[in-house]
Amino acid sequence: MRRIPLYFMIFRSFLGYPRFLAKILNPKFILNERLNNREFRLRKLYLRTLPIHAQIETTNECNLNCKMCPRHLQKRKKGQMTLEKFQKIVDQLPFVATVDLHGWGEPLLVKDLFKMVDYAYKYKGILCSFATNGTLLNNETIFKIINSHLYRVLFSIDTTDPEKVRDYQDFQMLIKNIKKLVNLQRNTRRSLRIQNGITLMKGNLDDIPNVIKLLNQVGVEDITAWAVTTHDQKLLGSQFDLQITEDVMKKVKALSFSGKVRFLGKLKRLLENNAEETNKICRAPWRSCFITWDGFVYPCCHLINERYCFGNVFETSFQEIWNSPEYRQFRAAFVNNPPEICKRCGW
Ligand SMILES: C[S@@+](CC[C@H](N)C(=O)[O-])C[C@H]1O[C@@H](n2cnc3c(N)ncnc32)[C@H](O)[C@@H]1O
Ligand code: SF4
Ligand code: SF4
Repeated sequence: MRRIPLYFMIFRSFLGYPRFLAKILNPKFILNERLNNREFRLRKLYLRTLPIHAQIETTNECNLNCKMCPRHLQKRKKGQMTLEKFQKIVDQLPFVATVDLHGWGEPLLVKDLFKMVDYAYKYKGILCSFATNGTLLNNETIFKIINSHLYRVLFSIDTTDPEKVRDYQDFQMLIKNIKKLVNLQRNTRRSLRIQNGITLMKGNLDDIPNVIKLLNQVGVEDITAWAVTTHDQKLLGSQFDLQITEDVMKKVKALSFSGKVRFLGKLKRLLENNAEETNKICRAPWRSCFITWDGFVYPCCHLINERYCFGNVFETSFQEIWNSPEYRQFRAAFVNNPPEICKRCGW
């Protein structure tokens, strides 16, 4: 059977979201987008435009303790965002078209999660997506996912050996539930994208073909991957760290040629050791932002040191934070000397 090109599937899936299409076809949105591209190309520090994408961490609480996840090393206060706080944030981001609702935590734990998805879509034309460890899938959450305006759910299966990476209680049940969701999505013809993201680590590299096989068996063919990223020295050098060697490069290339996995372009370039060049093309500091459950603004989910915290949206307006002297200084420094972690990042 001929495979339908992915970009066509993505475009077709957006047709099911008229409010989103109305938003991105609005002249004000288009103008902001074009100008934003220009400001990025010219490496402007003060931006007249606002972000197009945001990652809003609805919670940093989690029911798992994955070994490669820097969450357990973070000293931040734990909690979850309320619908009211979420509304306060998106109301300040008029040109944001897509929002990821996960940060360093499990979004399916968030009480108001689906209310947030619906508010964003119905009142702002925003399409939401989230990554999930999938362990909280059950008939109720599957029903909520199918009946919400969510455009994408990204599972995080990166091993077939549950002991290796994540402390899953019942791996078989998780796989069964993903299959249930896939079947329901097919039967209802709902334009929801079901994707899986693999975090590539030293410890799971040889298991990746099995992961792909397992996912394909349950009907998940939309698979992406990125290399493990962390600034924490406790994780670097461990069995989770992935050094980009020639050998690794060969393995990953072989997988990407299997036609089943869509590796991020940046990862391929990283593997080809063009890190220097690729760092410069990360648009995150111009185009998007990461906002924690308690309102702190960072350039992206990887740069969450105090040094990269530019304010709190519950105390200062987003617009003020976006062009604060600290944010502008960060953009200036980023152009010539991006943080070390950017060399490993899959964006
Ligand atoms: C931090 S999790 C949050 C959402 C949810 N708890 C989950 O696991 O999918 C988002 C994604 O980050 C990935 N991840 C975890 N630790 C990572 C690391 N050190 N580097 C890169 N990605 C990582 C996870 O595998 C998951 O796909
Ligand atoms: S990767 Fe996701 S599930 Fe695992 S500990 Fe981190 S936030 Fe939790
Ligand atoms: S870590 Fe660097 S490359 Fe990755 S998204 Fe953040 S700014 Fe971009």
